[in-house]
Amino acid sequence: MKIALPDLAAMNRLGRNIAAALRPGDVVALSGGLGAGKTTLARAIIAALGYEGEVPSPSFAIVEPYAPPAVRLPLVHADFYRLAHPREAEEIGLDDYREGAALLAEWPDHAGGFAHEPACLSIALEIAEAGHEGRIAIVEGGADWLGRMPQ
Ligand SMILES: Nc1ncnc2c1ncn2[C@@H]1O[C@H](COP(=O)(O)OP(=O)(O)O)[C@@H](O)[C@H]1O
Ligand SMILES: [Mg+2]
Repeated sequence: MKIALPDLAAMNRLGRNIAAALRPGDVVALSGGLGAGKTTLARAIIAALGYEGEVPSPSFAIVEPYAPPAVRLPLVHADFYRLAHPREAEEIGLDDYREGAALLAEWPDHAGGFAHEPACLSIALEIAEAGHEGRIAIVEGGADWLGRMPQ
């Protein structure tokens, strides 16, 4: 499914729709090049889950956990860009972070990818048109997303 994201308002709206459907155990895999809008969409989701503070980009820390009551459900925001090998995802304790939590993953391929998980929602962000601000999201959900796909 293709969703047009002409501006930040559209990005926030998609973030709200994902947040409304999100459950522990889910993965939202955010792919796309540098500047595609992965962190922007992750921030929109985290804000829609109730977080009122500033959401740092996890590009340095790699993993930023969020816990209730600041958010509606336990959440991990990760940016795997700096991983040299997928096995490093294990070494930083990703499985423990994910226990009972939803995962928002930037550069998911650097962690080995999550699209094989039924609870993975894959979102590929692309620049809509050279020289234009807008983005396009290609959205695909695993079997667990049937009936709750974000619009
Ligand atoms: N749909 C959009 N329309 C216009 N600008 C956007 C959109 N999505 C993101 N941006 C802008 O693109 C820039 C880079 O986004 P960012 O989320 O940091 O990218 P990434 O995490 O993929 O590297 C930010 O300045 C953001 O405001
Ligand atoms: Mg980013």
